[in-house]
Amino acid sequence: MSRHLVTAALPYANGPVHIGHLAGAYLPSDIYVRYLRANREEVVFICGSDEHGVPITIRAKKEGITPQAAVDKYHAIIKQSFADFGISFDIYHRTSDPIHHRTAADFFTKLYDQHEFIEEESEQYYDEEAGMFLADRYITGTCPNCNNPGAYGDQCEKCGKSLSPRELIAPQSQLSGKAPVLRKTKHWYLPLDRYQKEWLEKWILSHKDDWKVNVFGQCKSWLDQGLQPRAVTRDLDWGVPVPLPDSTGKVLYVWFDAPIGYISATKALFEQRQDPDGWEKYWKQPDTKLIHFIGKDNIVFHCIIFPAMLKAHGDFVLPTNVPSNEFLNLEGDKISTSRNWAVWLHEYLVEFPEKQDVLRYVLCATAPETKDNDFTWKDFQSRNNSELVAILGNFVNRTLVLIQKYYEGKVPATGQLHPSDEQCIAAMKAAPGKIGASIRAFKFRDALFDLMDLARTGNKYLADNEPWKLQASDPKRVETILAVSLELTAQLAILMEPFLPFTAKKLRGMLGLEATDWKALENGALVLPGHTLSEPTLLFDKIEDDVIARQVEKLAASKAANDVKAIVFEPQKPATTFDDFQKMDIRIGTIVAAERVPKTDKLLKLTIETGIDQRTVVSGIAGHYEPEQIIGQQVTLLANLEPRKIKGIESKGMILMAENSDGRLSFVAPIQPISNGSTVR
Ligand code: 2FM
Ligand code: ZN
Repeated sequence: MSRHLVTAALPYANGPVHIGHLAGAYLPSDIYVRYLRANREEVVFICGSDEHGVPITIRAKKEGITPQAAVDKYHAIIKQSFADFGISFDIYHRTSDPIHHRTAADFFTKLYDQHEFIEEESEQYYDEEAGMFLADRYITGTCPNCNNPGAYGDQCEKCGKSLSPRELIAPQSQLSGKAPVLRKTKHWYLPLDRYQKEWLEKWILSHKDDWKVNVFGQCKSWLDQGLQPRAVTRDLDWGVPVPLPDSTGKVLYVWFDAPIGYISATKALFEQRQDPDGWEKYWKQPDTKLIHFIGKDNIVFHCIIFPAMLKAHGDFVLPTNVPSNEFLNLEGDKISTSRNWAVWLHEYLVEFPEKQDVLRYVLCATAPETKDNDFTWKDFQSRNNSELVAILGNFVNRTLVLIQKYYEGKVPATGQLHPSDEQCIAAMKAAPGKIGASIRAFKFRDALFDLMDLARTGNKYLADNEPWKLQASDPKRVETILAVSLELTAQLAILMEPFLPFTAKKLRGMLGLEATDWKALENGALVLPGHTLSEPTLLFDKIEDDVIARQVEKLAASKAANDVKAIVFEPQKPATTFDDFQKMDIRIGTIVAAERVPKTDKLLKLTIETGIDQRTVVSGIAGHYEPEQIIGQQVTLLANLEPRKIKGIESKGMILMAENSDGRLSFVAPIQPISNGSTVR
């Protein structure tokens, strides 16, 4: 029997939670913890809101509220959603809480006092108008890789390349729209490169066989690239202030403070339990199994950076395992908050009240355990109708209805056992071990499959023995069949609890079953003969096509709205002077001839009547227009652009085109008739 400290990633309090969150970290951790509790193991289950960092300040800015107001709002929504879905945290805490600020600051101070950090000054972008240093996300500019003019300081979302702000061409502050300047600033770095050599690499490699392949693989590739010192502070006004003199305006990096949130939440839990020192045995005794449930984007932080922090601190255990899931997609597309491409938990409950277990079931059955997976409403419907209703619900209902019908709900006793009874009993005996082993190995899909297999066994047992045909001729035999079926029903009530806690409770109610403990399964006879059962009701009901069609339509509406919103505007370029503008000779002309430039895909050779002359202009619009379609088109021409040779053709000037974010082009032409040679100013 071990002591387990189970954590689920602290979600950012910058929006509600959706099915991707549930499937990634919260459902598997909940199943795991419920299983441990049912096996009377010592466990605490820790989570809370991650309330710091740039994701929060960006959200607050978007909504025109303070960061504190934003986290207050979303913390409440998230907490409620988890409770509604039966995610059984022992505590759902928050990182804006004073206990957390204290714990995180003390952690930093201890590392500082032990001289763990490298202290370094570097130049970072600063917005002089806003009077602050700019987080990577607050800087945009042109991507050096693909020329996307709206790339962020940490990443270009068009080509996917990771960037640092200094790589952006023409960087611009998202706060003031101005070009930022470089300014010196001091930060503290964790020397991951040193730790890699000293112990970290060895420690990770020692988990090759017990960590999931996807988790180990990601860690290995970080190690192979060579770890670098990592800054643990930021210039930002929202977060845990750096607890050092002369460090105003500096806070702990959100990924430094957030995982410490697991520790502070454990402290808060034991304060609530009036056992203020109780948290220490979970974090400090080496036989604790610390298990972090996370999504795959969090692997490096939980497998490398947080362990490095814990080890440097010295008082705490390191994680035993970090079961991380891959991503869940929705109807073939990446779940996205900004595109509203998601099934939000709070909205699901409005559409499907009391059907939390159906979603838990579907998300577990399709969990992205080893690769990304897809949630579709069709699959949701079919798993409900042909698995929950037709297998599990059907078996339980047939058993309970027959007992009601033949014995007015009074549980019969078993008589002489036939081989088929013994087979069914053997399947019951084997199930807890099999299901438990899969859960312990973080194979929740397999575990759920074995649970359903037990219900399948029950259905087959009834179908093979056909008690409804024997009641007149051999009522004693029927008593045995239904007693065995009822025992199986009671077993299912206990075994399903980690996966389907609401249904388990309902079924226990019908059976009058107190036990939730898996130990009780070993003794059998969960419901004693002679006990009277309550009137059965259905555990699950069919979901009709029109209900699913409504959900699909709702997503289609989101998609349509996104197509409109997808227009991303280029940020404004830095200021120019009127004099500079005046230097440009822009005038109206007409295309009088056009032909493709041989051996190119993009170029057209245009002959333009400009009013002052007829000239050749080479233009990159061949992908958009056929030459013959544009003869006679009036255009706007930058006439005094220095002539250039393109593919051996001298091009004199450039026609102006409007281009939207998906690359569509339009001529810029006068909307009233005007003669060639007219100037534009
Ligand atoms: O990715 C996220 O949503 C982060 N807020 C997870 C933090 S987990 C932990 F370290 F707190
Ligand atoms: Zn790019």
